[in-house]
Amino acid sequence: MSAGAGTGWPATLREGALELRPIRRRDRVEWLEVRGRNLDWLAPWEATPPRQAQPIAFPTMVRNLRRQARQGRIMPFVMTHQGRLVGQLTVGGITWGSLCAAHVGYWIDSRVAGRGLMPIALALATDHCLTRTGLHRIEVNIRPENTASLRVVEKLGFRDEGLRLAYLHIAGDWRDHRTFAMIADELPPGGLIARVRAMQSQQSHSSQD
Ligand SMILES: CC(C)(COP(=O)(O)OP(=O)(O)OC[C@H]1O[C@@H](n2cnc3c(N)ncnc32)[C@H](O)[C@@H]1OP(=O)(O)O)[C@@H](O)C(=O)NCCC(=O)NCCS
Repeated sequence: MSAGAGTGWPATLREGALELRPIRRRDRVEWLEVRGRNLDWLAPWEATPPRQAQPIAFPTMVRNLRRQARQGRIMPFVMTHQGRLVGQLTVGGITWGSLCAAHVGYWIDSRVAGRGLMPIALALATDHCLTRTGLHRIEVNIRPENTASLRVVEKLGFRDEGLRLAYLHIAGDWRDHRTFAMIADELPPGGLIARVRAMQSQQSHSSQD
């Protein structure tokens, strides 16, 4: 196990009806149903292997994810809202030692898109990583065309670090990405979740005006 590995995992994080918790084998039916309905929605944004690879069965995928999580390399969360599985958020590429950094990937069911759920999930995960696990830096890499995801990091105040050419293989080719980062010192008082709550209360006040 690497230095720092194992701290902060397994974890369950909650805000209102939204929960992030470790993926498990009995998520299979719900996960396959949501993924099956969202194939076209997710295809332009999801990493693909650069060489032909066999699809992985759900139990094998979960076993692999949980093994890497035990080794302190990833935190594979599923997102539930009002008890229903609505997405996934994975803290990946965790590097300990002198770097103590990771990147976050996420997707949500198109049926619940646009309700501000992913900003809450990313805030919870980032706060958890930067205040309770010993990680120092979280980054999110986004295709410049992905306006919805760009809004998520913009809402939370992630810092734009610029363009990485041909950074990730997606939908059959190497795609440029913009990198957005947050380091522990940049967290606002109360964490990113405080920023989300302030945003929500501002919105509810302006809708009452
Ligand atoms: C990116 C994503 C996770 C955002 O999640 P979300 O919970 O919908 O986030 P938000 O509710 O904050 O909405 C973000 C933006 O999406 C757009 N949006 C709003 N309603 C939408 C809808 N029904 N469908 C699609 N996009 C919508 C808006 O631009 C919104 O910004 P706004 O709040 O300023 O209007 C989600 O769109 C998604 O899963 N997309 C496909 C996979 C993906 O892109 N993953 C990220 C790869 S980096």
